[in-house]
Amino acid sequence: MLTKKISCFFLWTILGLSIIFSSYAQDGASNSAPGLSLDAAVIEKGKSIFTANCQQCHAVHEQIVGPKLANVYERQSIPWLINFIKYPQKVIESGDAYAVNLYKQYKQFMPNHDFLKDDEIIAILSWIQDETKKGPSVASTASASSTTDAPSKSDSAINSNLLMIVIGLLLFVLLAVLTVMAILVTTLTKYINQREGITLSEEDREYLEQRFDIKKILTSQGFIGIATAVFIIFVGKTVLDGLFSIGVQQGYAPDQPIKFSHKLHAGYYDIQCQYCHTGVEKDKHANIPSANICMNCHNAIKTTSPEIQKIYQAIENDQPIQWVRVHNLPDLSYFNHAQHVKVGKIECETCHGDIKNMEVVQQHSLLTMGWCIDCHRKTEIQTDNKYYEKLSTIHAASSKEPMRVENIGGLECSKCHY
Ligand code: HEC
Ligand code: HEC
Ligand code: HEC
Ligand code: HEC
Ligand code: HEC
Ligand code: HEC
Repeated sequence: MLTKKISCFFLWTILGLSIIFSSYAQDGASNSAPGLSLDAAVIEKGKSIFTANCQQCHAVHEQIVGPKLANVYERQSIPWLINFIKYPQKVIESGDAYAVNLYKQYKQFMPNHDFLKDDEIIAILSWIQDETKKGPSVASTASASSTTDAPSKSDSAINSNLLMIVIGLLLFVLLAVLTVMAILVTTLTKYINQREGITLSEEDREYLEQRFDIKKILTSQGFIGIATAVFIIFVGKTVLDGLFSIGVQQGYAPDQPIKFSHKLHAGYYDIQCQYCHTGVEKDKHANIPSANICMNCHNAIKTTSPEIQKIYQAIENDQPIQWVRVHNLPDLSYFNHAQHVKVGKIECETCHGDIKNMEVVQQHSLLTMGWCIDCHRKTEIQTDNKYYEKLSTIHAASSKEPMRVENIGGLECSKCHY
């Protein structure tokens, strides 16, 4: 039947197009940016230099202290990057527009790395290229689909934009082919009908008299198949995006009862975190300061401000200030600040982001199990700790890799789960 032939043709078109698209995508993946290497040894070397020098501030698929580095070799030329990584401050001060813009965003200088040789930096960038192509792990995929992490969001937006473009293009081609076929069929039918003397067999006659019927096409198996496929892709993508962000509260920044600003107190006035979060070096919990701690200063500072009056009221009524909790792990998990801050020597910013610039605190990290585990796989133990002396000798005897949290049992379920 004609309709069958048409839908068959559609199927072939789609197949052809998807082959073209996928080979196009692979093309992009197998190439290397000019100057970078695909050699496994170079990539491995780059990884270890990165771990030793850059990891505390950067990740490939995640913004930590500095920007995420996925694709960075496409954002700037390799020589520019080598120069910037060696002398970031100089490049920023020279007025380079791109660098100045970065600095405005991150408000922090990256340290000089002039001790690195060019080929070492190329190795780092080659590793970054390799990781970029591998794509983010599950944990960072979730971050990509979360609502507020702007840079990752734009990344996932690019992905879904691409998907939209591909689907849109396919639909467009379908419609175009449909129209052309329709015109062809009508013209041919007209032509044959006008011509006398053409003898048609029974079958051909039937063929001819069959009207070009849009309804038939719409209900034909081929068309329904294609429509269902497109629909499933759409729904699947939406559901997946949604699933990855279930229970993930990254970016959560509730209104607080008093307009307390970390930017002002911890940033501008540079009050130490421990001054208020007294438990952070000795306890499981960091603690939220009581109104008394505020009063150390505010019995004299800004006493007439309505916001400060709220502190006085809380004390008068003997009621704690009802701060809204921002970070909240489920009860089944165990997290200890002292272990991470004091023993592990991890900066607050690594997990909480740039608090000193936050007017309102927001949840910076995913706080998923994948996030904890990921860091435990990557982070080296501070072995200047007596407690680890024996362990590190044992570890050194069996492995050349530095000792990481995973090596001391940081991936064992019972360490994090009661
Ligand atoms: C102490 C934190 C810190 C360390 C360590 C660090 N960086 Fe950075 N990096 C930053 C910050 C912050 C920026 C943003 C620019 C600025 O404000 O100076 C940045 C920017 C960059 C950029 C530009 C990113 C872009 O989006 O164009 C590259 C590339 C980079 N860093 C690579 C490295 C490499 C490679 C290392 C290790 C050899 C490293 N960084 C170590 C903090 C750091
Ligand atoms: C002057 C006291 C003070 C200082 C200094 C201070 N904080 Fe806070 N912090 C608070 C108060 C009050 C809250 C609760 C209100 C809020 O969330 O803004 C809080 C909340 C937080 C939270 C969110 C807690 C939650 O509910 O999950 C984090 C994280 C945090 N602070 C980190 C820091 C870090 C990191 C520093 C140092 C750079 C710091 N704070 C310095 C008073 C302080
Ligand atoms: C170490 C001293 C210090 C501590 C402790 C402190 N503050 Fe402040 N706070 C200041 C200073 C200084 C200012 C800025 C005053 C100004 O703008 O003149 C300020 C400003 C404020 C303001 C803005 C007031 C306004 O109307 O502009 C609020 C709100 C505030 N603090 C809340 C708190 C709360 C809540 C706490 C306890 C969790 C606290 N502060 C603890 C020093 C402190
Ligand atoms: C290794 C990651 C990590 C580091 C480093 C870290 N925190 Fe936290 N912080 C968390 C997690 C996870 C929670 C949520 C804990 C919970 O819900 O039980 C949290 C919660 C908090 C809270 C809310 C109150 C509480 O104790 O649950 C405050 C305040 C806080 N952190 C302050 C700090 C300060 C200040 C520092 C640096 C001195 C710091 N944190 C370093 C991961 C970290
Ligand atoms: C930024 C990196 C980082 C993140 C994120 C992180 N940890 Fe850790 N964690 C460490 C380091 C480093 C140590 C080792 C500290 C030490 O030397 O004992 C550690 C140790 C631990 C230990 C003790 C392990 C042992 O064998 O003694 C537990 C439990 C733990 N972390 C739980 C968590 C949980 C739960 C989370 C997520 C909510 C988390 N950590 C997130 C870096 C991290
Ligand atoms: C480094 C710490 C850490 C280790 C090790 C760890 N978990 Fe978790 N796990 C967490 C945290 C934190 C959460 C809560 C994450 C969230 O709320 O999204 C969690 C959540 C879970 C959940 C989901 C509960 C829910 O609310 O959906 C299960 C199941 C789980 N863990 C099982 C395990 C098992 C099994 C192991 C051992 C193979 C393990 N975990 C090892 C930190 C850890």
